[in-house]
Amino acid sequence: VTPSAAPIDRAAVERTLAPFGRSRTLPAEAFHSDELFAWELDRFFGASWACMGRAAEIGVEELKAVRAGTESVLLARDGQGRLRAFSNVCRHRGHELVEEAQPATPALGIQCPYHGWSYGFDGGLRGAPSFGGTPGFDRDEFGLVRSAVVEWHGWIFANATGDAPSLDEHVGQLDRILEPYRPERLVRGGETVYEVAANWKLIVENYHECYHCTTIHPELCQVTPHDSGMNFEPDGAWVGGRMALMDHAHTMSLTGESGGVMLPDLTADQRREVVYVGVFPNLLVSAHPDYVLTHRLEPLAPGRTRVTCEWLFDPRAVEADGFDPAYAVDFWDLTNRQDWRACEAVQRGTGHRGYRPGPLSPRESAVYQFLSIVGKGYLGEAMVSPAPGRSIVSTRSPSPARP
Ligand code: FES
Ligand SMILES: [Fe+2]
Repeated sequence: VTPSAAPIDRAAVERTLAPFGRSRTLPAEAFHSDELFAWELDRFFGASWACMGRAAEIGVEELKAVRAGTESVLLARDGQGRLRAFSNVCRHRGHELVEEAQPATPALGIQCPYHGWSYGFDGGLRGAPSFGGTPGFDRDEFGLVRSAVVEWHGWIFANATGDAPSLDEHVGQLDRILEPYRPERLVRGGETVYEVAANWKLIVENYHECYHCTTIHPELCQVTPHDSGMNFEPDGAWVGGRMALMDHAHTMSLTGESGGVMLPDLTADQRREVVYVGVFPNLLVSAHPDYVLTHRLEPLAPGRTRVTCEWLFDPRAVEADGFDPAYAVDFWDLTNRQDWRACEAVQRGTGHRGYRPGPLSPRESAVYQFLSIVGKGYLGEAMVSPAPGRSIVSTRSPSPARP
């Protein structure tokens, strides 16, 4: 990856990167500048790893085109189940191969709709009509251009440019934190797509703190103590922590009751808490004792973000007679809408003349960690979360630090 600094005031970014307690939030341009937004799409979403959705969305011998920053990526799963990714462009005269935003479609291979060039699932050129007798024409020269793709716990991560450090480095020990939930075996029981009038980073910032919980989430505060947060010490491009459930609550729902089944491999501690992690830049994973909720962010404009929420349950829950995911979906839909209102008001506020980057409270340490990844990225440095000192971890730990 070629480091390249972002088009943003360097001194302001350095204030964001100052030690926790003295740092400031990002300057207004971070939420409003078209030029910076384009840079972010290119560097954070195209040149790095970004989540493209669930692996289950693309079956064997199916194709799907997705957006990774400024790039269009063609995902192709072959007959053996192997997933590959290519730049979504024909090697003849550059026609796009598959239109984005279509559901996955079954295919015998990859065929360009323009002049009919055809490629295998491995990206190799198979057929180029009328080129048979062309002297010096070598099919091997015209295979599709590869992008990097990895299936991780049931999610697809793509790196359009193909030159980011490995996804293992990106996620570090987060792998071990999510493993007990076995997200790859969970199935979708609910989905909601929101369009939020706020910058994608404001949505991530908001996700990583519960300082706002008492003021805007009365229902949430019935099932989780708002000050029970405890952060992990991330070792990659991710941020997260966990929060306790109230004694009466089995999960996050309006009543604290679960309408599903408990995930089978959790420890007694994990059954009493919810894990909240954000994989930079665009996947937020909320792992509950009986379901996993994800928010996947797609930045549409500096002040506009599509958020796809998926509620993933144990297959036994979804198959059960009369299963109703509403206990989980309705609870988080209500909470989401409270959050979107706040994020949209911050989007507007940061556009006002009187906005100045502000300080973070001791309860916003995970926001600091997220902003540190962003700030380092802006300066062209390696995007890793800083290990929090003891001083930035909130009190009231629900259980000893793990892993
Ligand atoms: S551009 Fe694809 S076949 Fe001509
Ligand atoms: Fe919230």
